[in-house]
Amino acid sequence: MDGRELVRSIKVFGSVRGLRTVRAAWRQRRTDAWGLPPKGAERARVPGLATEAEALPGGGIVRFARSSLRICVSAGGAVFWGWDGAEPLPSYALAGEGPEPDPRASLEPDTDGGWRIVSERVTVAVSRHGAVEVRTPGGVMLRRDLPPRWWEPVTGADPDRGAGAGTAGASADGPGAASDAGPGAPSADGPAVRAVARWVQRSEVPADARFFGLGGRSAGPRLRDGSYRLWNTDPKGGFVPGDDPLYITMPVQFVVSDAGSHLAFHDNSWDGLVTLAEGEEGAGSGHDRPGTSELRMGGGPLRCWVVVGTPARVLHGWAALTGAPALPPSWALGPQHARWGFGSAREVRRVVAGYRERGLPLSAVHLDIDHYDGHRVFTVDRERFPDLPGLATELREQGVRLVSIVDPAVEAEPGNAVYDSGRAAGAFVRDGRGREVHGEVWPGECAYPDFTDPAVREWWGGLYEERLRQGFSGVWHDMNEPVAFAPFGDMTLPRSARHALDGRGGDHREAHNVYGLAMARAGYEGLRRLRPDERPFLFSRSGWAGMQRYGGTWSGDVSTGWPGLRASLSLVLGLGLCGVPYSGPDVGGFDGSPSPELYLRWFQLGAWLPFFRTHSAIDAGRREPWEFGPEVLEHARVALAERERLRPYFETLARLARMTGAPYVRPVWWGTPEDRGLRDCEDAFLLGDALLVAPVLTRGADRRAVRLPRGRWYDTATGQAYEGPGQVLLDAPLSRVPVLARAGAVLPVRGEGDGQALEVWAPAAGRTGGGLVVRDTGDGWEPGEIERYQSRLVDGRVVVERVTDDGVEEVGVPVRVRGL
Ligand code: NOJ
Repeated sequence: MDGRELVRSIKVFGSVRGLRTVRAAWRQRRTDAWGLPPKGAERARVPGLATEAEALPGGGIVRFARSSLRICVSAGGAVFWGWDGAEPLPSYALAGEGPEPDPRASLEPDTDGGWRIVSERVTVAVSRHGAVEVRTPGGVMLRRDLPPRWWEPVTGADPDRGAGAGTAGASADGPGAASDAGPGAPSADGPAVRAVARWVQRSEVPADARFFGLGGRSAGPRLRDGSYRLWNTDPKGGFVPGDDPLYITMPVQFVVSDAGSHLAFHDNSWDGLVTLAEGEEGAGSGHDRPGTSELRMGGGPLRCWVVVGTPARVLHGWAALTGAPALPPSWALGPQHARWGFGSAREVRRVVAGYRERGLPLSAVHLDIDHYDGHRVFTVDRERFPDLPGLATELREQGVRLVSIVDPAVEAEPGNAVYDSGRAAGAFVRDGRGREVHGEVWPGECAYPDFTDPAVREWWGGLYEERLRQGFSGVWHDMNEPVAFAPFGDMTLPRSARHALDGRGGDHREAHNVYGLAMARAGYEGLRRLRPDERPFLFSRSGWAGMQRYGGTWSGDVSTGWPGLRASLSLVLGLGLCGVPYSGPDVGGFDGSPSPELYLRWFQLGAWLPFFRTHSAIDAGRREPWEFGPEVLEHARVALAERERLRPYFETLARLARMTGAPYVRPVWWGTPEDRGLRDCEDAFLLGDALLVAPVLTRGADRRAVRLPRGRWYDTATGQAYEGPGQVLLDAPLSRVPVLARAGAVLPVRGEGDGQALEVWAPAAGRTGGGLVVRDTGDGWEPGEIERYQSRLVDGRVVVERVTDDGVEEVGVPVRVRGL
């Protein structure tokens, strides 16, 4: 054991745990050294020339000398293609079987010797060499995926795929982790896992395009030139912009260009690396240099979905493919307070009373691992929390719910009931020799449920019964990348660990990135079975494409500091463009103590984001709004009151996200992606259609520049009207952040008492406006109904009407007109 490793480990994990984590990390290394195939010779392959094509509904199959390409345009306009026989299923991302093919589209010969598929929303061209180009119906290029290249392990049994397939060692061209690929079929004493082909896919996008997405990235939302890894990772402590990767990575790119926007998803959960380079117009001798994306995957299928259209259409299509976002119960749209280290029921009561006595609204309190008995999941420390159900009832009477953390790792100690029942069910991940894989986590040595096994999901989902009995209303999934503490290397399970992969069987190289997603499924389905009348409230630190079906997420351990504040917004925006609309940061940052100003600015940002929760580490300073002096308290009170006033608007946005896939929080270019200036704006966002929020992200600022999309916008604080597109300088005193309302917007707000009202912002002369409202129907499953409103100016007066199938009718609730 290296002395430096030990010292570092003891520093990070404490002395007893430090030693144990070093040992655990070595054990993991040994497991992989035995379990992974050794690195060996590889053979490079490209598709070669096309030989023939076969038309099928929606597209067809093009056969090349050394591969084949299945390509299909679906009825909704999404394009699928898969190489080497890859089909849409099986997939952890897709919500169902995948969409039906467009019966009117099919493969036809193109003029240049290739093929094309023409459909209403998109044209796809396949070249003779295997490039796939997606074009607008007008013929403008949106994306061109160049012929891919594979590196395959050379084994005796491997049939030669044809002439010209040159042999390459693990060349500098291939993705890094060479020990993941190489010869070596599983045998009784040999490696348990398969050697696999790795591959690279280069793509081009228009020179003016900007990249977004790839899951939750700290340095976005615009993804600048550089490499982004696809491997869900606990960054080991607080992260700042640029720390990469984080807990949620996804091979989902959202690309915006003058020609249009599109989302490209490579449905493959293996470890990968995306390298992006923005293009340049008129580069060199006046020619455009296209933007490029290069995706290198360590294994798994080469298959891709592309959805094109306006941003709204793209996310609608994406939600149709991967599932509608779960609808949080309405209380989860209110202010929430968490802390690692409440330490006792008394402290929880003290904090809740603090909110109540100061007249501050509070919707939920979250209990972290310190309420467990010895950090063991599904237990309660009865000394510190002698009557959790009683506490839950008492808080509920005050309108405050309890939410529980749930970690996946189970202390591997006979006598621990969860471990015993998991063992009996054969629930835990094993290595290639059949031994349980253990890692160090909070309770000590732990085993890991294999959530990629349907029987394990069902077993695990049943365990939430205990949480419901304790009085919890929702769950917070943590540490599910999954984490096994290690002072060096990856803090996760060995790559050779075996997983069920829903009947296919495989190893952690493929299961790692979907571990959190599968855990979310287990928890969500368990809660649905156990409490069928209420929508589950679940959010998860790790996840993958499709995680929105089960719930939301949060920032994880965002570092306390101004850079961390900026990263908080980047994550929410980027995740929204990957189809995950419900998220928010640890308000105040996870570690240390924010200055009063930083805390307030974080609080003011959080108040406009879907998941609004203060949270911090066990050794961090306080985060209650009254702990930062009377001035901060008064300004926080204003932010809380505005959040509560807008609760019906948040409820509407949550319902619309479910119905349409549109995130609540959208980049400012959402409705006008052709406005290039807006594509580069990263410090403001649209909240639904009606509002533009410009948080303060820099220290000492009391004014800030705000870039406006086209149309008239009102500063909601002063009523002053501004015309976009363009940039304005707005006051941002400590008491508030600039928020603008779109002229003509109609949005639901709380009225007198608990009643509803509509707020309407005067349309500009000669223009009309409107808005959608979906009313809350309680915490069950009753569907919401979209109400449509329109606004117009008549003789200088603002008229608002409800639009129905039969015409227009009067608005049945009080209307508050602003901006006249
Ligand atoms: C890591 C999580 O990111 C954090 O929010 C939590 O407080 C700690 N784990 C302890 O459970």
